[in-house]
Amino acid sequence: MSEQLKTATPEPATTRTDAKDTEVGSVFVSNYPPYSFWGKDDVPAVTNALNSPPTPDATLGLYLHIPFCRKRCKFCYFRVYTDKNSSDIQLYLDALGTEVELYSELPSVADRPLKFVYFGGGTPSYISSKHLKALVKRIKAAIPWDSAEEVAFECEPGTLTQGKLESIKEIGVTRLSLGVENLNDTILAENGRAHLSKEVYRVTPWIAELQFDQVNMDLIAGMVGETWDSWRDTVQRTIDLDPDSITVYQMELPFNTVYSKDIFGGKDLFVADWKTKREWHHYAFEQLAAAGYKMSSAYTMVKQDKPGQFIYRDAVWRGSDMLGTGVASFSHMSGIHFQNATSWDDYVNSLHKHQLPLDRAFPTTPAERLTREMILQLKLGRIETAYFREKFNADIVEVFGSTYQKLQDEGMLTFDKDAVTLTRKGLLRVDGLLPEFYAPKYRNARYT
Ligand SMILES: C[S@@+](CC[C@H](N)C(=O)[O-])C[C@H]1O[C@@H](n2cnc3c(N)ncnc32)[C@H](O)[C@@H]1O
Ligand code: SF4
Repeated sequence: MSEQLKTATPEPATTRTDAKDTEVGSVFVSNYPPYSFWGKDDVPAVTNALNSPPTPDATLGLYLHIPFCRKRCKFCYFRVYTDKNSSDIQLYLDALGTEVELYSELPSVADRPLKFVYFGGGTPSYISSKHLKALVKRIKAAIPWDSAEEVAFECEPGTLTQGKLESIKEIGVTRLSLGVENLNDTILAENGRAHLSKEVYRVTPWIAELQFDQVNMDLIAGMVGETWDSWRDTVQRTIDLDPDSITVYQMELPFNTVYSKDIFGGKDLFVADWKTKREWHHYAFEQLAAAGYKMSSAYTMVKQDKPGQFIYRDAVWRGSDMLGTGVASFSHMSGIHFQNATSWDDYVNSLHKHQLPLDRAFPTTPAERLTREMILQLKLGRIETAYFREKFNADIVEVFGSTYQKLQDEGMLTFDKDAVTLTRKGLLRVDGLLPEFYAPKYRNARYT
């Protein structure tokens, strides 16, 4: 079931691949058009949009990137630092505060209510309560978030203490997400996780006591060393922990991970193939359904009897404006995608000079925004044609009909004039299918 990971020439990730083995390259689709098409030449368009009034009725969210971790997991591709001390962190948080303040004064942002706030990483729970409270005080003074419908916060189990969890609750977090990933200590250690299962068990009673509106746990199907027995055990023990939602990712190996470098360096690694990872993903969803959870997206199951909303995900997938703050963060404002400087020095120095650290951008066309929303919302499992007719004045069956037909013939989805619904087979490989909808000019290139 596990098999040797190939070091084959990486496939361009913007083309549909039905790869059998877990090869190096991104497969997770988080945006459209692909990042590799964003450029520096379009940064002036961002400045122009930020200095203009917002799109009428557009909602606004704030993403804060906290790029610190205790250790770099061998599979992780996020922009993270494991070597920063408390004064580096202070310097970074000062820059982040300045960034939010600069945005708050711009016509596209001033006086707009925030629909959601998302602390992502890296590991937001890595920073101390003192740093966290000071950051929040400064940000709230610039952009109040009392009316936000959701404040989400990512945590790595080993960074949490009871006191830190109390601070997280105190700043108004409504959705706490815990990176459990696996509950087998050999697997956690092999994959370079900083935490072991006992840390999950230590923090979950404190989390339950604080009664966050929603607690999510992340799992990865296909970590190095996983077997059917270990996966069955992890799924059962995660269900026993009784979270409000469980998110299952299939392990991927983008280019800039420790494992990918090991593979290019000639190391033999045993990683489950895609078929096995889909079987594990499917098994987890079946067990969760039997335990009273229902599907909320291709990745997430939520408790039947709780609201189970995920405002950040739904807003982003519906084209909401979002200020992505922090090093290398991604934003979307008034139809323009943009990304911040990706190096620590460029990010911090730019804000030290009171300049937004904009690095590359992409102004989208209405057709691209339609494609973007359609493919991202397909990850929910079902989309209704009426939504797109109303918002884009477009009939998605007319625009994407030939691709829907092809995927229907392959058993991936069904569609009629009212809705497109993914089958279980389609849901389990949704990220692999989405490139089929890309405009031809965006295919056969790297995704990031
Ligand atoms: C920013 S981390 C969550 C918070 C914290 N840093 C942690 O890991 O506990 C976001 C999630 O991305 C997922 N992830 C990271 N790298 C991945 C990969 N290569 N394949 C699949 N999922 C991955 C993990 O499930 C992780 O919990
Ligand atoms: S998975 Fe989480 S803890 Fe691990 S390196 Fe990535 S961001 Fe840090």
